[in-house]
Amino acid sequence: MSEYNNKADVLLGLQWGDEGKGKVVDVLTPKYNVIARFQGGPNAGHTLEFDNKKIILHTIPSGIFHNNVTNLIGNGVVIDPVIFREEINSLNKEMSSISLLISKKSHLILPSHRLLDAVYERNKGNNKIGSTLKGIGPAYTDKAARVGIRTGSIVEPDFRDKYESLKQLHFRQASAFGYDDKFEVGGVDFCEYEKLWFDSLGMLSDMQLVNSEVFINRSLQNGNSVLAEGAQGTLLDIDFGSYPYVTSSNTVTAGACIGLGLAPTKIGEVFGIFKAYCTRVGGGPFPTELFGEKGDELRNKGKEFGSTTGRPRRCGWLDLPALKYAVMLNGVKKLIMTKADVLNSFESIKICTHYEIDNKKIELIPYNMDTKNLKPVYKTLKGWKKSLETVDSLEQSPEELKDYVKFIEDYIELPVWLISTGPDRKQIIQR
Ligand code: GDP
Ligand code: IMO
Ligand code: MG
Repeated sequence: MSEYNNKADVLLGLQWGDEGKGKVVDVLTPKYNVIARFQGGPNAGHTLEFDNKKIILHTIPSGIFHNNVTNLIGNGVVIDPVIFREEINSLNKEMSSISLLISKKSHLILPSHRLLDAVYERNKGNNKIGSTLKGIGPAYTDKAARVGIRTGSIVEPDFRDKYESLKQLHFRQASAFGYDDKFEVGGVDFCEYEKLWFDSLGMLSDMQLVNSEVFINRSLQNGNSVLAEGAQGTLLDIDFGSYPYVTSSNTVTAGACIGLGLAPTKIGEVFGIFKAYCTRVGGGPFPTELFGEKGDELRNKGKEFGSTTGRPRRCGWLDLPALKYAVMLNGVKKLIMTKADVLNSFESIKICTHYEIDNKKIELIPYNMDTKNLKPVYKTLKGWKKSLETVDSLEQSPEELKDYVKFIEDYIELPVWLISTGPDRKQIIQR
């Protein structure tokens, strides 16, 4: 919890997403009164494992399985009512009650946003982003164009009119891309999906819809502790990520201010989470990517398949210049390293310390630069070749793991506060 009173802590990903945010938020939740999502939407897949159960959350904050905690979906989030209803239905099987508030100012993802996502991706051909096709980009586009529909509008009398006129606009846009065959969303006939969407709206409007900026600031004033949970990762940030291969929201700490209505002076601790190696799902630069058998080995050991789409994740070694860039952008104060156990059987482990381009050394990479000719330069460290199953402190850890952590800490100049050694809630080393 923040050592500063009345400030919200932030936990966010420092790579290309899937760093293990869901698991670690679940671990930290007992220290907090409020867990709040501030951006993204159902493109996220946050996995929690406990009591031999595995749950994947898309829109709902990862504090939902704890009692006495309020979970909040902030104004910066975009919500698909169909996916939201599915999530609530599966939670209802696990929990007798849940505590969830939703910002009236969050935006809705319409069926036609998903349609447009597919149309735009198809139009990009080989340069496609590799979107999750959940309608994220088009929903945020409409928010910025001031034609989007907010969750709070569901209960307003002109909701249906607003919906119809936005849908017609989307159909015209899709037609302009030459898309005039039968409209479909994720393989389902548009009309059928639209019906499902309307059927799902009730679940959303029955939730407590609030002005979350007021709720969160009052919570802080009243001495409650708040953890803001990031989605995606810093290298997918719309401004600072590997543009255009990014998502459509600000995934960095500043995004928590905008996506929750928190003043910058109200941010306390910033926890930056990274995997002990790197993964990326979708297109775009990935300088330390491993191909062939080596990539397969990491993918299989780390079970690196997307939580939302099931796509194989691209895998590679830890990229320290990229990590340092992410730490700078977010003002990270403490690091959290996950998936250390995935490297248990590796004889040696590589770690990228800098890049070379035309014999010039580059140490801090602005991720929008052309990375095609960038040659990563590695330091090779010895693997620990041991299970971490029974390790619950860094002191007890194999010397080689200590060396790995120390190397990262010295480079980034920040402490690694937590190390995750497995997907379960209990598999964590706290310093
Ligand atoms: P998120 O999007 O950042 O919440 O991460 P995801 O849930 O998409 O992906 C992380 C995956 O790794 C999930 O399947 C987690 O259950 C799993 N996981 C999290 N931490 C660890 C860990 O320390 N070790 C292993 N082996 N798996 C982990
Ligand atoms: P969590 O929160 C990993 C990637 C997509 C694609 C790009 C744009 O689970 O870490 P979008 O659907 O946003 O238009 O896709 O961003 N992407 C993610 N990759 N984890 C995520 O979320 C992601 N959300 C989006 O694969 O490359
Ligand atoms: Mg994920």
